[in-house]
Amino acid sequence: MWRERARNVAEKVVRPLAAKYDREQEYPWEIKEAIAKAGLMGVWIPEEYGGAGGGVIDLCICVEELSGACGGGGVLYAVIVLGTFPVLVGGTEEQKHRFLRPIAKGEKLISFGLSEKFAGSDAASLRATAVKDGDSYVLNGEKKWNTNGGAADIYTVFAVTDPASKSRRTSAIMVEMGTPGFRIGKVEDKMGIRCVPVVEIHFENCRVPAKNLLGEVPGMGFKHAMATLDKARPGVAAQAVGLAQGALEYAMVYAGYREQFGAPISSFQMIQAMLADMATKTEAARNLVYVAALAVDTAAPNVSKLSAMCKLFATDTAMEVTTDAVQIFGGYGYMRDYPIEKYMRDAKITQIYEGTNQVQRMVVARSLVKESLGLKHLLDFIPKEIQKGVNDPETLKRLAEESKRLAEETLGSVDVPTHNA
Ligand code: CAA
Repeated sequence: MWRERARNVAEKVVRPLAAKYDREQEYPWEIKEAIAKAGLMGVWIPEEYGGAGGGVIDLCICVEELSGACGGGGVLYAVIVLGTFPVLVGGTEEQKHRFLRPIAKGEKLISFGLSEKFAGSDAASLRATAVKDGDSYVLNGEKKWNTNGGAADIYTVFAVTDPASKSRRTSAIMVEMGTPGFRIGKVEDKMGIRCVPVVEIHFENCRVPAKNLLGEVPGMGFKHAMATLDKARPGVAAQAVGLAQGALEYAMVYAGYREQFGAPISSFQMIQAMLADMATKTEAARNLVYVAALAVDTAAPNVSKLSAMCKLFATDTAMEVTTDAVQIFGGYGYMRDYPIEKYMRDAKITQIYEGTNQVQRMVVARSLVKESLGLKHLLDFIPKEIQKGVNDPETLKRLAEESKRLAEETLGSVDVPTHNA
């Protein structure tokens, strides 16, 4: 049902407007209205807060369909998901009703403010502050890369509430457009996803009611941000799948009609191999996205890993597939009159935002280090001669201490199994 509804919006509204908004770099209110009218705004929001009660799998399907027609149309929607998840993850009942209902109904838009000029991948190093003063928090500082900024009515902002704390340093605070001291700054001129605004936001003694602090308990911001990204990354991955599928379809059609050497180029083996690889990788990415989305929906224990895996694989695939699609279009592919170069421009950002693919690989690798600690039985099958000093109690002790130190450095406190002699 969601796929059909989203595809309908994508084909009837998004695709015909994609080139216009890419050129003009203006917020496509018609697209937002069409998405809302189709009832897609509240797909992932539970029914008790006015949504449709679907899962991350449903929103991924919607993002995928919208992105197949326009990557900007896809992220316009996906970023609303990103803004709402901190509320779902950490908000009080009252906050969930207050902030999620108008979004589910399509009456308001939300934006997510985590990154700063000097805090990108290192999301724990924020500088914007929120200082408690009576029954308010006073915000100062700035945020970078706010997608949907300016168009959105509500901003989920992460700021430092306890500079002295290491693990409870930040909190998430909901800031509404129009609050004195809150201002939209530089509007970025982007390579791709040009229909959605990406802006800086500034806070100068911006006073926000204390009841807007998510969960009304300070210090949970980093955890809320990380848990949010675990749930939202499949959405970016779905955007990438949509872009790859959209580019593939244009390339298939073009290859069937474009004649060279007296035959359609789709009859040439080199083009066929490219199309086959593009389709195979896109399908593999799609399936990994669905697996990760279902893991989120079922609260599986390996969500962070799967979510990072699908994000990095699908977005790397999108970059590859859209680049190959431009190649199939040849010289025409490089020209703005043709729809294909936009897919390549739109795909690039998916490898960067919601955590660079370098960060995703780091998240996956950290999970693997953790998992390896539960695989010590495999040591019995690894020839002893490469297990230095494996029968020497002193060496075993030193190795155990060293691996515990390394694991703690990477993961925090862990129980490290000792070597099997
Ligand atoms: N869920 C819940 N808690 C988590 C968690 C998770 N997935 N990951 C870590 N935590 C907790 C840890 O348990 C730890 O808690 P304690 O202090 O109580 O032990 C705490 O958070 C710190 O964890 P780490 O030491 O692992 O944190 P780190 O500083 O090493 O950072 C990181 C890890 C993976 C690099 C993280 O900083 C990260 O994901 N960075 C990328 C940020 C990102 O994606 N930014 C993009 C923003 S969105 C955007 O692009 C804008 C847009 O509009 C689209």
